[in-house]
Amino acid sequence: MPITTCIFDAYGTLFDVAAAARQVADEPGNEEFSAKWPEIARTWRDKQLQYSWLRAVADAHKDFWQVTQDSLDYTLEAHGFASESLRQRLLDLYWKLKAFPEVPPMLAALKDRGMVTGILSNGSPDMLDAAVESAGIAQWLDVVLSVEDVGVFKPHRWVYDLVGSHFGSQPSEVLFVSSNGWDAAHAAGYGFQTVWVNRANDPVDRFDWSPDHVMRDLTGIPELAAAR
Ligand code: LAC
Repeated sequence: MPITTCIFDAYGTLFDVAAAARQVADEPGNEEFSAKWPEIARTWRDKQLQYSWLRAVADAHKDFWQVTQDSLDYTLEAHGFASESLRQRLLDLYWKLKAFPEVPPMLAALKDRGMVTGILSNGSPDMLDAAVESAGIAQWLDVVLSVEDVGVFKPHRWVYDLVGSHFGSQPSEVLFVSSNGWDAAHAAGYGFQTVWVNRANDPVDRFDWSPDHVMRDLTGIPELAAAR
């Protein structure tokens, strides 16, 4: 079935999740943080995802903003930082993460080709609205779908169901794009056509399904969507 609809994961795919820690590292007075920031950003992201999966399997949902704060608290303690102002600065920056540079022209090209576009994310609606606004990409998105509508995190299939419920689309006409290998794999298992954006050149995640396409960034998405 030809692709009619392109749906994007948010964090790590459209928005650079390392941007908050990178920016704090560049600010004066944060020399100790600067020395460790890539490791801190990695722990924060890893814990954030682990907490989301564990809350999903334990049927103990709290929204992604709570999970983001809990994972940051773990991370700062693990790396020996106790500053409340540092914590607050990182959290404030998480609301205005930068989009990767290819995102605006890529979304504009999809709309030029008549594609339906949207976000499907673990993020809570207010977090996603803030990120979309600060990245200036709202004009190219038809919808921003949040897991809060079903109260469970990815990769629960209820989350992927949100796309068909919203648009009335079949899974096979949807191109789902994620930089998270586990998300792309489960979306493929669900029946979406999938792209894994493998920015870090990671090995493929070992599940029962694999993404249909692997790309280094989002630049090739409009061409791929039009060709399918
Ligand atoms: C999201 C996370 C998984 O945006 O990156 O859903």
